Amino acid sequence: MKIAMVGSGYVGLVSGACFADFGHDVVCIDKDPGKIAALNDGVMPIFEPGLGELVASNVKAGRLSFTTDLAAGIADASAIFIAVGTPSRRGDGHADLSFVYAVAEEVGQHLKTEAVIVTKSTVPVGTGDEVERILTQAAPGVRFAVASNPEFLREGAAISDFKRPDRIVIGSDDEWAQEVMREVYRPLFLNQAPILFTSRRTSELIKYAANAFLAVKITFINEIADLCEKVDADVQDVSRGIGLDGRIGSKFLHAGPGYGGSCFPKDTLALLKTSEDYDSPLRIVEAVVKVNDSRKRAMGRKVVDALGGAEAARGKKVALLGLTFKPNTDDMRDAPSIAISQTLQDAGVEVSAYDPEGMALAAPLMPGVTMAASAYAAIEGADAVALVTEWDAFRALDFEKIKGLAKAPLLVDLRNVYDPAEVRAKGFTYVSVGRS
Ligand code: UDX
Repeated sequence: MKIAMVGSGYVGLVSGACFADFGHDVVCIDKDPGKIAALNDGVMPIFEPGLGELVASNVKAGRLSFTTDLAAGIADASAIFIAVGTPSRRGDGHADLSFVYAVAEEVGQHLKTEAVIVTKSTVPVGTGDEVERILTQAAPGVRFAVASNPEFLREGAAISDFKRPDRIVIGSDDEWAQEVMREVYRPLFLNQAPILFTSRRTSELIKYAANAFLAVKITFINEIADLCEKVDADVQDVSRGIGLDGRIGSKFLHAGPGYGGSCFPKDTLALLKTSEDYDSPLRIVEAVVKVNDSRKRAMGRKVVDALGGAEAARGKKVALLGLTFKPNTDDMRDAPSIAISQTLQDAGVEVSAYDPEGMALAAPLMPGVTMAASAYAAIEGADAVALVTEWDAFRALDFEKIKGLAKAPLLVDLRNVYDPAEVRAKGFTYVSVGRS
């Protein structure tokens, strides 16, 4: 089957490469000539484990190609995916749908043969209706259907998430569209991945409800972590103790500095905007957004407290290990490290930092922060080390070496990577999240 993927960002590129790997004939389209030229040279625009190899092997097999030419790219495609960005609109948090609608318009203008148009971008309820309206006007007389097919992949584990999904959600009441989508996902279907067919609006809402619920889960355990610190309990054990209950589940109960990334912050805001538009309050999600926002700066204050409070912290130096919003990505969007470094700088603390992949994107977001060549270079002369993102490279730090380089043996572990007793036994003052 021929598939066109309009938008070669995280979701578009990973989905396109995986569909090609299933054996489909895939063309990835993007407006950015620099990105397409780089992809044609085998250079990935994002850091995602395994993606370069997957793209290379499918290009070599002749199943995957890249172009800026939308008209040529969509020609004869049975399924045309829209996978462009839906960033937060400035000011009101509503998802900016201008890219989605512009693609719908352009697809409509060039649509010559029947095709199912599939929205993979995360879009608010009702977007599919508008895409359908645009196509009806732009492509009169051509048979098409508009389906919703949200993507649930996580950065850093994108390929395995795509190939082994918990579920595939297809939103369309049109039997022909359902048939085409079954064909698109046939290899996963054969692998017994659950496929859920719903109405288009339901499918659009499922994506937001899933992300909002996960954001609730993380924020819940983060607040429980704060309580643990006050009552001398251990949040890791609380997570395990509640997570073993099948009704709760153990995932996304890891306390930390607050969620970031390209999805949770933006999607929770967009869902709140929808709830406002439809006069149907989502008070839990409202609270989650507020709590998570304030948590990031609170983590900066936690480091200041570890340094002995505001007076003592002024003029001291902190080394931040890990800047990206999570490991195995270079993505800095809404990363807690940004607010943490700002809070430290506001308190007169000098900040040095190291991240295995994120420093190029982090540097412009963190003026005044010294980007070091290695973790140990960042630690040299520091009064405290703050572990902000749990990259594997920081899971076996050389504590003796740190003692030799740092001014004081103080570790603030915002991801609970280490065992408190072990670190203290090495002569460190150790502060973590939700553990006394
Ligand atoms: C998320 C969703 O998981 C995915 O289904 C959706 O398609 C896009 O958004 P992603 O943003 O790539 O994926 O990362 P994820 O692994 O979900 O982590 C999001 C944030 O939550 C990170 O900042 C992470 O550090 C944080 N997190 C996650 C926690 O603080 N604790 C947890 O237990 C899990």
